Amino acid sequence: MINVALIGMGRIGRIHATNLSNEPRASLRMICDIQASSENIAEQYGAAFSASPESVIQDPAIDAVFICTPAHTHIDLAKLAVQNGKYVFCEKPIDEDLEKARRFVETDPASAAKVMIGFHRRYDEAHRKLRQAVESGARGGIEQIIINSRDPQIGSYAVLANTGGIFRDMMMHDIDQAALLLPEKIVGVFARGTCLVDPIFAKNGDFDNAVATFWTNSGVTCTIINSRRSLFGFQQVIEIYCSGGTVSIGTQAEATVSTRDGAGEHLSKPPGHFLERYQSAYQVECQTFIESIESGKAFPVTALDGLRALKLADAADRSARFGQPVTIKD
Ligand SMILES: NC(=O)c1ccc[n+]([C@@H]2O[C@H](COP(=O)([O-])OP(=O)(O)OC[C@H]3O[C@@H](n4cnc5c(N)ncnc54)[C@H](O)[C@@H]3O)[C@@H](O)[C@H]2O)c1
Repeated sequence: MINVALIGMGRIGRIHATNLSNEPRASLRMICDIQASSENIAEQYGAAFSASPESVIQDPAIDAVFICTPAHTHIDLAKLAVQNGKYVFCEKPIDEDLEKARRFVETDPASAAKVMIGFHRRYDEAHRKLRQAVESGARGGIEQIIINSRDPQIGSYAVLANTGGIFRDMMMHDIDQAALLLPEKIVGVFARGTCLVDPIFAKNGDFDNAVATFWTNSGVTCTIINSRRSLFGFQQVIEIYCSGGTVSIGTQAEATVSTRDGAGEHLSKPPGHFLERYQSAYQVECQTFIESIESGKAFPVTALDGLRALKLADAADRSARFGQPVTIKD
């Protein structure tokens, strides 16, 4: 049995807490949040509560720690957890601060290998099939990738206040997908960010719309488009354009019913948000983390992947801010 502590009982923390509760090989022993109101939630999960992440991490009864706090806290907490002999599941991004993340991963690769990063789309069935279809080579080499991810509008900006901005928060997942799919390293990016949804993003130095084109040395491009407002529900469309055809996935629409009337054809909305769309991917992600610890296998997604995605997101952010293409070096 793997004894787990979860730090940060917000939006994603609750998803992981539920999945951990349903995981027979794990016991969710402690929940930690700086907000005392989370004590009631801990009780619902049958876990002890603490407001001190340090004391939870230092508890010898804990084997693994889930870090579900805002981005700027990730490396400090992960480092402390690894120093205390824990396995770590760390939500994306690996941190807000690229230099801090780089120091952690590059100066101590053995510690970095004990950290699994929360790129849940890696465990999604549709994404897995997409990767397989591309890797089979049946449609030739990749020439262009186009990823379109749009989130439904959020009720309050407070939810996004500590995320590190649209490139490190939202585009981070698309960037990880692109880096995984592309056969070569990304060497450059040109990005643009705008504020069309709500001026509060601009007031906080962020964007609510973003587009970035990344490229490799041989000229393969990947264009990612993000928006913080999709009135018709969460949208996720990927097209891989290859020399011999295309491979693509659309927004999941299992339960979609099409109707026609005098006003035209209508489709029901796709699942409300990524939290619903990727429900089963989050479950598999949690199972994979526990399974890897139990079997002594390496994590399939490590801090190295987190650092690679953060480098690319950071470069896209700089490009959008300065209006210039950015060269990406190792
Ligand atoms: N993989 C995904 O699909 C996904 C989805 C949402 C969020 N995230 C990531 O998860 C992280 C958290 O996002 P969220 O939307 O759940 O945020 P949130 O604001 O809803 O929750 C964060 C929680 O952490 C607590 N907290 C803050 N600092 C703390 C500290 N030092 N110690 C203990 N608790 C602390 C807050 O009180 C809050 O309850 C972010 O890095 C975000 O990018 C990932």
